[in-house]
Amino acid sequence: MNNIAYYNPTKVISGEGCVKNFQNFRDFGKSALIVCSHSAARISGALDDVRLLLNNAKISFEIFDKIEQNPFVETCYEAGALAREIKADFIIGIGGGSPLDAAKAVAVFAMYPDYEPEDIFKVEFTKALPVIAIGTTAGTGSEVTQYSILTVRSIENKKSVASPLLFPKIAFLDPVYTHTLPFESTIATAIDALCHAIEGYFSLKADEVSDALAEKAIEIVGRGLISLTRGKLDTDLRQSLLYGSTIAGMVIAQTGTGFVHAAGYPLTYFDGIPHGTANSYFIADFLEYMSLAREDKEKKIYKLMGISNMNDFRSLIDIAVPNRITLTREKAQQYTKSVCASRHLTSSVFTVNEEIIYDIYKQYVK
Ligand SMILES: [Fe+2]
Repeated sequence: MNNIAYYNPTKVISGEGCVKNFQNFRDFGKSALIVCSHSAARISGALDDVRLLLNNAKISFEIFDKIEQNPFVETCYEAGALAREIKADFIIGIGGGSPLDAAKAVAVFAMYPDYEPEDIFKVEFTKALPVIAIGTTAGTGSEVTQYSILTVRSIENKKSVASPLLFPKIAFLDPVYTHTLPFESTIATAIDALCHAIEGYFSLKADEVSDALAEKAIEIVGRGLISLTRGKLDTDLRQSLLYGSTIAGMVIAQTGTGFVHAAGYPLTYFDGIPHGTANSYFIADFLEYMSLAREDKEKKIYKLMGISNMNDFRSLIDIAVPNRITLTREKAQQYTKSVCASRHLTSSVFTVNEEIIYDIYKQYVK
């Protein structure tokens, strides 16, 4: 067992109406930039609530609503310039993983007028505006992490920025904002959260605190996913998925992710597969390989989820995501190279090699 080194400075405020009831935005300054995508922040009702609160608090604000799925670093750069123009004191990210990750990058770009977009990966930054994160999905975990995952055209892939400065100051978890999330997206984001918990559970950086959080998240989200595959989705389930996914986010803030995420990124970049769905193609194989080193943890996962074995786990994922992608041999080779260029092969308790990653992709070559 590793020594404990857990750190997470994000204040979590949860419960129905928690944003509406918050009276202290003024503590963060008198000008804000709201960062969101075009529709989710509006449809969920979160944007209207925030606007009202800012108006009541006499905080001036602009809305940057051009954040795309898997946000490009250039889009965040553009929003950073707007933040400087309006002299924003803080950034409010509203949405799923994409707007929340983007909000963190915007907070950095706002402080560095001389940056080129990709400097965020190359130059060590020492300041960022405070970020307030308001989630509208249950999966990303971004509301409680120090990561910003951005899409980079020059490498044709996603790339991660990590800094303690990127932890949001506050994460608001209001389950009401997840009510408008479509069923398919609810499944995909739940799988993402389950992957965070499982990948973190087998990380070499795991410790007793992250394991306790991972086990709780696996129980909540794993059982929640089983309910979803039975067609159940009510207010209580939405709330528990939201809490479970945030707990899973606290896990990866400590541990990072494993090869599941690295393998999923090219599918998202090149094939447009949603992040959680892309992860679903690899999580069962990940679990099987990790069990070679930590069979005890594998068995614990089944117990926490209320299933018996690997067959049950695979069936659950197959039912949750029935339509599987088909890859060409060339793509499988190309994606394997991309995974091997990341540091995810050696970050878990069982080290996989290029051959294993290729074999995993090859299952999808028809
Ligand atoms: Fe993820």
